[in-house]
Amino acid sequence: MSGNPGPVQVPLLLGMMRLQDYPELAEPQALLGFIERCVEQGLHAFDHADIYGLGQCETRFGEALRLRPQLRHALQLISKADIVLTPQDRSRWQVKHYNSGAGYLRASLDASLQRMGVERLDGFLLHRPDPLMHADEVIRALEDMLASGKVGWLGVSNFLPLHWQSLARELPLRCNQIELSLQAQGAAWDGQLHAMQTADLQPLAWSPLAGGAFSLALQQALGEVAASLDATPSQVALAWLRRLPGTPVPILGSLRWSRIEEALAGAHLQLDAPTWFYLAQAARGHEAP
Ligand SMILES: NC(=O)c1ccc[n+]([C@@H]2O[C@H](COP(=O)([O-])OP(=O)(O)OC[C@H]3O[C@@H](n4cnc5c(N)ncnc54)[C@H](OP(=O)(O)O)[C@@H]3O)[C@@H](O)[C@H]2O)c1
Repeated sequence: MSGNPGPVQVPLLLGMMRLQDYPELAEPQALLGFIERCVEQGLHAFDHADIYGLGQCETRFGEALRLRPQLRHALQLISKADIVLTPQDRSRWQVKHYNSGAGYLRASLDASLQRMGVERLDGFLLHRPDPLMHADEVIRALEDMLASGKVGWLGVSNFLPLHWQSLARELPLRCNQIELSLQAQGAAWDGQLHAMQTADLQPLAWSPLAGGAFSLALQQALGEVAASLDATPSQVALAWLRRLPGTPVPILGSLRWSRIEEALAGAHLQLDAPTWFYLAQAARGHEAP
């Protein structure tokens, strides 16, 4: 463990999966204004994937960016590939599947670059571990992407240690984007986060607020803790994540400005260990073993 800082140095990443849910950001000019406001607040990293809105989320982001191309240099753009959704499957089976073939990954990267109107992604992630993945082929394809300059750094998403270890021996992987929240605590308990820390893989936490669906018991506990700390429940839920090994970076899904401001205002909130365990217990329904 060298303690290298991860590639993503922001208090929050902004997730673009739900971009189409916000009609107020539908116009390119409005979305550009939003992106500029984020950058002014130090939130310059945006998490995309080729499948979000079947490519529409990247397209719309690109339309906004084309209005002010010089803004590109202030941004950190991350995208992912290897999931093929049912409507994208051209086979006779019309089935959701994964494709980690070299040709497919190269074409996906090029399509993301084209949609966003940029020459380079900062981070490129394999979206899901493909049971049919050939590690040697993926390693060569990703190495070529780095060498071509189309990608600044590499990562994975939803990979367990045995998955990423098969690539990390030969590839400079920098992050693993996993589901992580009070409601999805597995990686906090099963050693994944410690393994990632040892391998200098920065954890990025998707659905950090469980998509807004915390259980009632958890909401109650978050409310109690929030009141005791003069904070809000979502600030406490994000502080719970940041307390974990590797200091996971939450990927906020809401693009409502009030939610973003609230999350940012709580970025320095610290939880002591008993508070952390109290919340973990409220979410899991039982005490630590
Ligand atoms: N790698 C992967 O496999 C993967 C999978 C899923 C997601 N992701 C990434 O993770 C990002 C975040 O995922 P997510 O959208 O599920 O994350 P999230 O932040 O847990 O959930 C956001 C949702 O929660 C709602 N919400 C309810 N109360 C909220 C509050 N107090 N503060 C903030 N939001 C609140 C929001 O509604 P409002 O709109 O009303 O604010 C929004 O619909 C995605 O955009 C994507 O980039 C990655």
